[in-house]
Amino acid sequence: MAASSVFRPGLFNHKVAIVTGGGTGIGKAISAELLELGCSVVISSRKADRLEAAAREMRQKIPPSSPASVTALPCNIRSEEEVKALVSSVLKRYDRIDFLVNNGGGQFRSPAEDMSSKGWKAVVDTNLTGTFHCCKEVYTAWMKEHGGAIVSIIANMWNGFPDAAHTGAARAAVDNLTKSLAIEWAASGVRINAVAPVRTAQYLISFVSVFQDAYEFHLSVWLQGTIFSKTAMENYKEYGPHLFKMSVPFTPAKRLGVPEEVSSAVCFLLSPAASYISGATLKVDAGQSLYTSMWEIPNHSAWSEAPEGENLDALNELVDPKSKL
Ligand code: ADE
Repeated sequence: MAASSVFRPGLFNHKVAIVTGGGTGIGKAISAELLELGCSVVISSRKADRLEAAAREMRQKIPPSSPASVTALPCNIRSEEEVKALVSSVLKRYDRIDFLVNNGGGQFRSPAEDMSSKGWKAVVDTNLTGTFHCCKEVYTAWMKEHGGAIVSIIANMWNGFPDAAHTGAARAAVDNLTKSLAIEWAASGVRINAVAPVRTAQYLISFVSVFQDAYEFHLSVWLQGTIFSKTAMENYKEYGPHLFKMSVPFTPAKRLGVPEEVSSAVCFLLSPAASYISGATLKVDAGQSLYTSMWEIPNHSAWSEAPEGENLDALNELVDPKSKL
């Protein structure tokens, strides 16, 4: 069944948006909804082939009566020069930029102690510096004179981001950048907000119990939070269905979210319905960030003892300090 926007048809007729990372996952859902609402969309990412294929697929769904079009323009957002070229091509082609959606990003999982400086920099360069490049360039080249709306997709990192400290730090920085720019650019009529989809959760899953015959070791598995998409599930190959099903009990909603539920939040923030909203970060997580930590801490006795006194004596009577809870 084709997804259908809750927003009024034609809401974004004759508007123009740039969506980085617009060819896959959440970015693709955002691009599709903007197109459905009449907005012309430039999707951008590093992978030209995949981008062009996504644009072809989206193009087929645009009704002939719509003023919207979709264009694929490859760009590495880490490079300021490439971002300048992207914005300049968009202006040449469409003569305006109403919206920027910063969705391009990525990370790899690793304990902080094993992260190389190069790996750290790559993630910060993409998620933070890339977002800065895009914001700055659309602002100076167009929005400073004409206004506009920007939404950055960040992550639900309010409790830290163990096993991906680089992306947690970078996304938290984008949250703060959003607030700074909301003030600096208010006088140009630019609104800038962020959307934080449900956190990428780590579940330490005993695969021994799940795939008893096949594995004799424990695997630490990351799920793309509880935003489910077919592509995300396929990325996990044969484990995908199991992994996504296992994440359901951890969500307050007791169901998984879909990229379209992030997209509608983005469209709201871009729309006149949010005309008095700037510098805000909207969590799209069904309350999951309020619902315990997903990070499993193994039993240990590494902490120093509590200060001596009658409370410690009572505590030690209650719980043998040598026992492992
Ligand atoms: N998505 C992930 N990494 C990216 C990059 N460097 N440029 C654009 N989109 C990206």
